[in-house]
Amino acid sequence: MRRLGVAVGSLIVLVGGAAAVLELKPPKMRAVDASKRFEASPDRVARGRYIVEAEAHCLHCHSDRDWKTHGAPVLPGMDGAGWDVPWADNHMPGPVFAPNLTPDAETGIGAVPDDAVARAIREGIGHDGRALIMMPYESYRNLSDEDVASVVAYLRTLPPVKKARGKTAIAAPVRWLVKMMPKPLTAPVADNRASDPIARGKQLSEIGQCQSCHTPVDARHQPLPGMAFAGGQPFTIDGVRYLSANITPDASGISHFSEELFIQTMRTGNVGARRLAPIMPWSEIRKLTDDDLKALWAYLKTVTPVAHDVERTPVDLKDNPAIDDRMAPPTTAAAQ
Ligand code: HEC
Ligand code: HEC
Repeated sequence: MRRLGVAVGSLIVLVGGAAAVLELKPPKMRAVDASKRFEASPDRVARGRYIVEAEAHCLHCHSDRDWKTHGAPVLPGMDGAGWDVPWADNHMPGPVFAPNLTPDAETGIGAVPDDAVARAIREGIGHDGRALIMMPYESYRNLSDEDVASVVAYLRTLPPVKKARGKTAIAAPVRWLVKMMPKPLTAPVADNRASDPIARGKQLSEIGQCQSCHTPVDARHQPLPGMAFAGGQPFTIDGVRYLSANITPDASGISHFSEELFIQTMRTGNVGARRLAPIMPWSEIRKLTDDDLKALWAYLKTVTPVAHDVERTPVDLKDNPAIDDRMAPPTTAAAQ
């Protein structure tokens, strides 16, 4: 009995020790060069606007929206001022806040050095040295140095809005896993915009996070193998659950689309007479040029077709309390 007590005691000390190490270990990050300034030339601001508004749809997350209206328009005057992601809807173990990106010095990023903003975008480290959750920095990792400088230059032109940011607070052990994700960039990234339409479409798909939303995930939010773009990932907004669509060129996906229907869908948010749920960020993707939308379509036609019939009827979770899509806590093995 005493032996067992000692064994349990040392186990608690061991687990407690491991937890303390995981808690205190900072994420991998490079130092910020606070003296670096990205000059705001008109070309840069224009390029940055296109990346922020169309390619990367940054403000889909970083603005308060009217989610009940088609295309979820930004609430008046709140462009880029941040979004308090409803905790009940975010499928994560704790509240998440997409911060205010406007140049307000107190509540926005006005006082955050250019290089710290660039590091957050491509490397996932906040100005406070925290590893970011939900911010899709892996999709933005291949943005070139000129692209990211342009994004920062454009963000600096947003009208400043005062809106205080809440504190993201993710429970352990997910918090520890999030800390293991960031990888610092250690070399310059040259301009890499592809000119071949399929290659360009692939880049747009990555920056536009089509896969992150359109590939189904397991209970720990890991993509299911062999199911790229096959749909069925749940999203909840205002208590209503939507599943993403199968966008592979299969009969259960978008093989019935033409280039014309695809472009029309992206521009209007309607597939024929059916309206797309506002989770699909078409109100930003619609700002892509014709050539870029054609490139995206050319790429989607090349992805592996997957037969996956997704039931797309929105579900009001109030009436279906048995549905629970929240992220399962990772196992201890995964946390180590
Ligand atoms: C899917 C939603 C989403 C998209 C799209 C998104 N972000 Fe974020 N972003 C977040 C969230 C959520 C956080 C805060 C995460 C946290 O607190 O851990 C964040 C954090 C940031 C930060 C960190 C600010 C700080 O504290 O230092 C910056 C800068 C940022 N985002 C810029 C961008 C830019 C620029 C884009 C587009 C290129 C973008 N975001 C796209 C959700 C998003
Ligand atoms: C934030 C998540 C999210 C992102 C990012 C996203 N989608 Fe979607 N998309 C959805 C959801 C959810 C639906 C289903 C909407 C519905 O059922 O009304 C959808 C629907 C669609 C449809 C309509 C399919 C049909 O048959 O009705 C197309 C096409 C589409 N998305 C293409 C894309 C492309 C291309 C990208 C990348 C540029 C993309 N989506 C990025 C969530 C997303």
